[in-house]
Amino acid sequence: MPLSRRRFLTSALLLPASALLPRISLASPEAGFDYVLTAQQATLNITAEGATDGFGFDGQFPAPVLHATQGKKIRIKFINLLTQPTTIHWHGLRIPIEMDGVPFLSQPPIKPGEFYIYEFTPPDAGTFWYHPHVNSLEQLGKGLVGAFIVNEPKKQRQQLAFDQDIPLLLKNWHLDDQGQWLPLSTPRQSARMGTPGRIETINGLQAPQIKVKAGSLVRLRFLNVDNTVMYRIVLPKGLDAKVIAIDGNAVSTPFTLKEAWAMGPGMRLDIAFIAPSAAEQVIEIKNRQGKLNFNFFTLITEGEASQQAKIIPTLPASVIPVPDLKNAKKINFTFEWEGAITPADKLLKGKHDFWIINKRAWEGMNKQSIPAPLVKLELGKSYIFNLRNVTQYHHPIHLHGHTWTVLKSNKRDIHPQEYHTDTVLLGKNETVQVAFVADNPGRWMYHCHVIEHMKTGLMGYIEVS
Ligand code: C2O
Ligand code: CU
Ligand code: CU
Repeated sequence: MPLSRRRFLTSALLLPASALLPRISLASPEAGFDYVLTAQQATLNITAEGATDGFGFDGQFPAPVLHATQGKKIRIKFINLLTQPTTIHWHGLRIPIEMDGVPFLSQPPIKPGEFYIYEFTPPDAGTFWYHPHVNSLEQLGKGLVGAFIVNEPKKQRQQLAFDQDIPLLLKNWHLDDQGQWLPLSTPRQSARMGTPGRIETINGLQAPQIKVKAGSLVRLRFLNVDNTVMYRIVLPKGLDAKVIAIDGNAVSTPFTLKEAWAMGPGMRLDIAFIAPSAAEQVIEIKNRQGKLNFNFFTLITEGEASQQAKIIPTLPASVIPVPDLKNAKKINFTFEWEGAITPADKLLKGKHDFWIINKRAWEGMNKQSIPAPLVKLELGKSYIFNLRNVTQYHHPIHLHGHTWTVLKSNKRDIHPQEYHTDTVLLGKNETVQVAFVADNPGRWMYHCHVIEHMKTGLMGYIEVS
């Protein structure tokens, strides 16, 4: 039997036809709105043996991929059909505070049965995502996460001309094999790396296949939408792929990934390649220990590449304000494990604050009591944040409403130099310096995106005025 035929048969046996990507649909427009979106109960089909009662935007997982255009206003009517309050936060978008989706700092929580109109103009093109900022452990953990893609304006977009553009949502589910929920969090794991789930998926599918046409220019957008797990993207040697954007921001020179690329929760990575002639390649997504994990997908190229040469484009540079490094004010933030101060057994019995930023654990907030900001910044000024992780665990640190320029680390070379991000991954005992212009007035959340860490202390906000 010819090799290709045998391969086809083995993959067909291993995977049901429904495991083919993409399975993501577009949200439906309605008069006056670009999208009408709901959050509601959803029946999820993650495990083979049983359905799961979870949550979904528009009642589905993966959630609809929302598309916006850079510099063009988008209007989204969001209806809460859950039995608990919620909001939507647009992760990575530099938009006004009123649209940031943080209860009390941006807007009142949206009550069950109510709706809220989100209306904003995305300033940057790239790969972003959306999720609630209420009861995050459960709402994100059970399915309320989706891709938000901002396209370049039409003219530029035509020049980029990707033949296939595929968002890949990486998420790990706390489910048993019958599809029943397991605890999303345990105090023991909250005080460590967080509680990982059991079932790894890409767009809700286990070890899916992605088919692309030989010769086509393909863009893969990886999004780590998991509550907890850090993923390492490993590209096969035979695939001539380039990184074109990091965390939603174009890189100035596309580059080859020589090593695994680490992505903490909240982070994104865009790669592009020209699909080679008929081949089957496995793209691995390893876990934080670097072990070959159970998470991967198979990239299948069909047909022969034509002679017409295509090139991997450089995306238009993002328009992030350039910080004035010479005059920037330096501020230190130390991310610490509270057990270093309070004995761990006391914490485990107590109210479960395990993590602190500059000696403060997030105290929570409601309408009547909003805690003081971690720091107040002057509108329009440049700042350098010195982010010191003095713990034994990784922390993807995220700031709302702004985009950082990553300057340096005490542990590694920053590559590419001075790239932009909204979420920076601090390795254990790593200090990273980031700079930015505080140009967006408001009170902006500032937290670790490992949801259990933010829920047990590693969260605060900064005020820009
Ligand atoms: Cu994805 Cu407060 O963020
Ligand atoms: Cu965010
Ligand atoms: Cu953390």
